[in-house]
Amino acid sequence: MSSTPLSFLPGPVLAIESSCDETACAILSSDGTCLAQRVVSQDGHADFGGVVPEIAARAHLALLPGLVQATLADAHLTANDIGFVASATGPGLIGGLIVGSGFGKGLALALGKPFVAVNHVEAHALTARIPGLVPGGAPFPYLLLLVSGGHCQCIAVEGVGQYRKLGGTIDDAAGEAFDKVAKMLGLGWPGGPALEQLAQEGNPKTIPLPRPLLGREGCDFSFSGLKTALSQKLAPFGQSPLPRQFAADLAASFQQAVADVVADRITHALRMMPNAGLLVCAGGVAANSVLRARLEAVAEQHGIRFAAPPLKLCTDNAVMIGWAALETCQEAARRGLPQPDDSTTRPRPRWPLEEMAQRFAAPL
Ligand code: KG4
Ligand code: ZN
Repeated sequence: MSSTPLSFLPGPVLAIESSCDETACAILSSDGTCLAQRVVSQDGHADFGGVVPEIAARAHLALLPGLVQATLADAHLTANDIGFVASATGPGLIGGLIVGSGFGKGLALALGKPFVAVNHVEAHALTARIPGLVPGGAPFPYLLLLVSGGHCQCIAVEGVGQYRKLGGTIDDAAGEAFDKVAKMLGLGWPGGPALEQLAQEGNPKTIPLPRPLLGREGCDFSFSGLKTALSQKLAPFGQSPLPRQFAADLAASFQQAVADVVADRITHALRMMPNAGLLVCAGGVAANSVLRARLEAVAEQHGIRFAAPPLKLCTDNAVMIGWAALETCQEAARRGLPQPDDSTTRPRPRWPLEEMAQRFAAPL
């Protein structure tokens, strides 16, 4: 990141998200109020049972110009009213990141406005702080459980730019496990919501499944053993259709096993972060009501609050990108540092959160 002493009021910010298969644009005023936002969840991946990076990148390219124009129109603004531009610049699928950050930089350059590169995971981490989202607010420090199709990690959120990864998955992400199991049960993709629905008809106690890493030191996750155990339960049926009740019992038993494991891992994470005042759950899997109820119970046992931002802000969106950019500008100002201008920052498929502290390192 290069920092030049630009003097601009941070906002309104036009933000772009393109790190996976959601193409999104949002405009936020400098106090974080969302003036407009649009998200297009790309179709074209379902037939492949997962996100195809090349299809995603091409779709971002096709969708972004119209999406940005439509979002500006929704906000009753023109491009010249924008204070600065922000794009998710990593981590994620590199093709989409190149498209979204290239578009953002080009727009900023054309408008003569600064560009801020946003870490997508940092944006998930700071979402709970968007004004009005979490009753009582989300002051630092808090524990974030980020569970989606691509992420599964516990993060100590200690300040803007100050994050410690306490643990993460050693194989599949939680949402990925839901999707793979849903596929085995013939539920289509993405399968998490359908699996939760089917599980409502099942008994979670009927089919014994393992609880990987339960009770183990630290707060890492593992889901591949659970998935394998489940596939062994299906083996006797071969290609024949599964009896509905058996499929429902399997779905319920799997969901219960995931909730048990996650509750245990979060209990450990809270031990590693005794000063956390709040547990935040974000990512698509946060939609799962059984998981939410367990997390709420864990938070209550620890005497802390629990919050899950509304689903449309939990899953990939551009409001969180704009908000993270605003927080970054505000933190730079608070530290007496120049406002960021990241027009030379390259997109990065990997971008560890721990590196975000460098943004606020005092200039030499
Ligand atoms: O955050 P998200 O929209 O996208 C990323 O993966 O980044 O998360 C999507 C994931 C998918 O794996 C989907 O199956 C899962 O979240 N998901 C659920 C539920 N709703 C969505 N998993 C379990 N239960 C749900 N109700
Ligand atoms: Zn995400």
